[in-house]
Amino acid sequence: MSQRELNDICIIAKQAGLILREGYEKHHDIKSKGRQDDLVTEMDKKSENFILDRLNALYPGDMVITEETGQHTGNADHVWYIDPLDGTMNYAHGIPLFAVSIGYAYKGELTMGVVYDPMRDECFYAEKSKGAWVNGKPIHTSERSDLKNSLFVTGFSMKVLEERGISNFPAFEHFMRTTAGVRRTGVAALEICYVSCGRFDGMWELKLCAWDVAAGFVIAKEAGVKITALDGVSEAFKGPYYDYIIANPELHTALKNELEPFKLTL
Ligand code: IPD
Ligand code: CA
Ligand code: CA
Repeated sequence: MSQRELNDICIIAKQAGLILREGYEKHHDIKSKGRQDDLVTEMDKKSENFILDRLNALYPGDMVITEETGQHTGNADHVWYIDPLDGTMNYAHGIPLFAVSIGYAYKGELTMGVVYDPMRDECFYAEKSKGAWVNGKPIHTSERSDLKNSLFVTGFSMKVLEERGISNFPAFEHFMRTTAGVRRTGVAALEICYVSCGRFDGMWELKLCAWDVAAGFVIAKEAGVKITALDGVSEAFKGPYYDYIIANPELHTALKNELEPFKLTL
């Protein structure tokens, strides 16, 4: 069985990113996948087909789980998690903030991750126990530990409101009033990378999918970020809902305590 190579994955993510970049601001065939906040374009599929072809050529027989075509059967010891275009809403609106995300798990443990931002030509990547990097530079999470001066990021999923009756808006308002601020970029994979390199200090989000977070979680962990489910202790990479808190270990505790009254875990 051939070794999975981080460098190969970086090349694939960059090439898929080029496809997206070439299609950026062109006319797109935009479809809703159900709700108005869940879109897909022909470029999501183009990027995904490219990544699937390349992975299949390099590592035939591996299991692959993608956003647009779901689970491709294969050897469950080697699982790839693909988001071919994270930030479809941005992309469809001509907002230059989106990414390609490729994560890999060996025997159930996430061990490699690559997130590529084609518009900034920034490639974030990491491999278990080898550190996290952006374009050849090592990255590390911020050391800020006081909530008041920390900058956070989160997201708002309509699915959470509809399926679980949980709203992230009260927590958002609370953090807007009591911290340096809360951003929402609409690109979860990139947001996790921004926490990993200290641009954001922390993040929480509800109801993401494995392909949104797999690559980012490897990068974050290697960058010194603490990652847990919303209870502050459980494993975050566990379906069916991928809810999580990430921050440096000290800020993580403060963030978790501050989120507790909002009962987002119900
Ligand atoms: C979305 C983005 C967004 C998150 C949504 C995701 P997509 O992914 O990651 O940041 O808040 O829940 O669905 O649909 O653009 O790949
Ligand atoms: Ca996504
Ligand atoms: Ca996507």
